Amino acid sequence: MYKNIKKNSKKLQKYAHDIIPGLSGLLGKRPEMYLPGGTWPTYYKKAKGIKIWGIDGKKYLDFTMVGIGTSVLGYADKEINKAAFDAIKSGSMTTLNPPEDVELAEELLKIHPWADSVKYARTGGESMSIAVRLSRAFTGKDKILFCGYHGWHDWYLSTNLKSKKKLDSHLLPGLEPLGVPKGLAGSTIPFKFNDWKDLNTIVKKKAKDCAAIILEPCRETFPDKKYLKEIRKIASKNNCVLIFDEITSGWRINTGGAHQKFKINPDIVVYGKTIANGIPMGAIVGKKKIMSLALKTFVSSSFWSEKIGPSCALTFIKKHKKLNLGKKLNVIGLKIKKIWKDAAKKNNLEIDIFGINPLATFKLKTKNWPVTITFFIQEMLKYNILASDRCYANYAHDEKSLNTYRNACEKVFKRIADLEKKGTLKKHLENPVKQMGFTRLT
Ligand SMILES: Cc1ncc(COP(=O)(O)O)c(C=O)c1O
Repeated sequence: MYKNIKKNSKKLQKYAHDIIPGLSGLLGKRPEMYLPGGTWPTYYKKAKGIKIWGIDGKKYLDFTMVGIGTSVLGYADKEINKAAFDAIKSGSMTTLNPPEDVELAEELLKIHPWADSVKYARTGGESMSIAVRLSRAFTGKDKILFCGYHGWHDWYLSTNLKSKKKLDSHLLPGLEPLGVPKGLAGSTIPFKFNDWKDLNTIVKKKAKDCAAIILEPCRETFPDKKYLKEIRKIASKNNCVLIFDEITSGWRINTGGAHQKFKINPDIVVYGKTIANGIPMGAIVGKKKIMSLALKTFVSSSFWSEKIGPSCALTFIKKHKKLNLGKKLNVIGLKIKKIWKDAAKKNNLEIDIFGINPLATFKLKTKNWPVTITFFIQEMLKYNILASDRCYANYAHDEKSLNTYRNACEKVFKRIADLEKKGTLKKHLENPVKQMGFTRLT
């Protein structure tokens, strides 16, 4: 079957849905999250920079999160690829350990002088699970205070055991905690990001019973500096491990974590996603007194010891520093925000723009946002652009591609404005309305 349809995305999607639940290992890569109905390319043959070729050979420019935020240097970066090929050629998984683990630990500890210990994993969610386990082991406490999204594991999804709505504003509305042991009910306590009321009524009150306070230092907005300072104070006073999840915010505004901008140190910082520019890698960096508990509790996995991840992370960090990539991504992110703002203004559309510059999101204030954003994605695809309501700035978003994106955005926003005025936008959808994604992550 596969052989006969391997160049036909629509048929392949349908077949995949039959034999792979959800089609993709990642919720955010299901075609329904962009365009249901088979029009979304869904599968790719190759990718370079921000260019992606679908399985039918068609070329697209990627103005979404670019590999779900994993590849800020662009796809198939030459130096990252060389590091990966070299690691493969020399035997990437052996009985012995790669020395790159040690070199990378040294690099990460240089970036974080407050820390003195590093562990590795390969995905963000599992790295966060390690940080949670170590915090519980260190403090002897079970409960976790958190805001935002931190992975699919039981410790996190158990939040919805008490009420299916608890994760609504942290991830997706109505997530079922099916298969999560009921005994975990009440073991996590969510709070709102940068919200002084929750800080005083939830975080301050519950901290003494909690092993960790977990948050992303920024995403939709930067926090008040005083807010992070206060969180730090509460964590120290109550023997809670303060964990900054920099899986998405890391390496966006500087070579390291976004929290460094605020000069507030956590006890553990976690990296994933783009730390090795598209090669699976996760790092947990922290204080030895906590991290060394990894020897007492059992935290271990075969592929956390392979060579490609640390080799590519080292190459990435060196290149990031050399390019001063944080600054560049900030400038590119600002340009993307300006494109949306100008296109909306030109067409008398009201727009909200969120996110730190390299992690930008927009929302047009139209009558029906799910219809509008589905139409936007549908029409941008006609200009061979993969688009959504969020665009993560990428080193490969050069002037030429930004111009192409600007022209397309202006034209599509104009059509949205015209059809919105006539009240016929929905009629022009060629596909069902898309599934809406993450509501708010921090
Ligand atoms: C802040 C944050 N934490 C954790 C995760 C989970 O990482 P992964 O998908 O690699 O398991 C994500 C993924 O989107 C994230 O954005």
